[in-house]
Amino acid sequence: MHRRDFLLRGAAAGAGFLASTGLQGHESGQLHSTGEVVLISTWPFGKAANQAALDTLAAGGSSLDAVEKGVMTAEANPAIQSVGYGGLPNRAGIVELDAAIQDGRTFESGAVCSLQGYRHPIQVARAVLDHSPHLVLVGDGARSFATDQGFPTEETLSEKAQEAYQRWLKKHPDGKGPVEGHDTLGLVLLNSNGHICVACTTSGLAWKHPGRVGDSPLLGHGLYADDEAGGCVATGDGEEITRVCGSFLVVEWMRKGASPEEAIAETLDRIARRSPKGRDVQAAFVAIRADGVTGAGSMQEGFHQALTRDGKTEVLSVPTFLERKQDGNRR
Ligand code: GLY
Repeated sequence: MHRRDFLLRGAAAGAGFLASTGLQGHESGQLHSTGEVVLISTWPFGKAANQAALDTLAAGGSSLDAVEKGVMTAEANPAIQSVGYGGLPNRAGIVELDAAIQDGRTFESGAVCSLQGYRHPIQVARAVLDHSPHLVLVGDGARSFATDQGFPTEETLSEKAQEAYQRWLKKHPDGKGPVEGHDTLGLVLLNSNGHICVACTTSGLAWKHPGRVGDSPLLGHGLYADDEAGGCVATGDGEEITRVCGSFLVVEWMRKGASPEEAIAETLDRIARRSPKGRDVQAAFVAIRADGVTGAGSMQEGFHQALTRDGKTEVLSVPTFLERKQDGNRR
């Protein structure tokens, strides 16, 4: 057995909280009412998203409205090169956006993939949830749906993204260079009645093959919510997160009683063991359990969570999965 695989198996055994705790899980159908609004989102740009979500609730909006309006902040910001208007294009120089939204009480959801010509894919995803019998619309179909719903088309390739594309094309004139980057904005909201909603939005990998879709708009992969268990969103290598149904897995561990941190650690361990890239993958999750406990975890360094409690938001650096494990072993 390869040494790294051996070490990873050891890590898995060490992390085996399910075996050691005899968790029974929550299958009662009883919902928690924490009385508190809790928000957690990915990356420092999640801070503005959390604030917009709080403002939406304060103005009388629903939890779905709040996560939608929350992630729209990043979609509108041309300085963010992995989401919405600022997003980097595919290898043909075209911005293709993915987004999804889900209600953890009704299990209603909506998603769009490879959407061209609209800066706010999350609004179109919400319209899919509200006005379509389907859950996911892709490409031209998503675009014609957006048009039918009255959304105006807009330029989606920002000046900065266009410049970055020209630089990439100079290096790779055949249009076949490597893909880069994957900083999805995902937001989980627990409202004061214990209701959970999630939303995700991304431009996906820069220089991707046209039509490539990652984890972010796919229910269970980039996002998942169930009021009885918790909510989770992902950021990172979409192919690797999708391979293990990452967000669904985190929620299911939480349903069995794991803390969000334990659930995320188990899921990161699963990714490392199932991916051909092993621990070289980047994957990160943020989650809220139904009782309001939050957690975040990342395979690689550099990930941050934006956490809002009592109306105050902090951007916090997230230790890597291995740093956490080593810390746990020292205790
Ligand atoms: N996690 C975003 C993507 O891979 O598209």
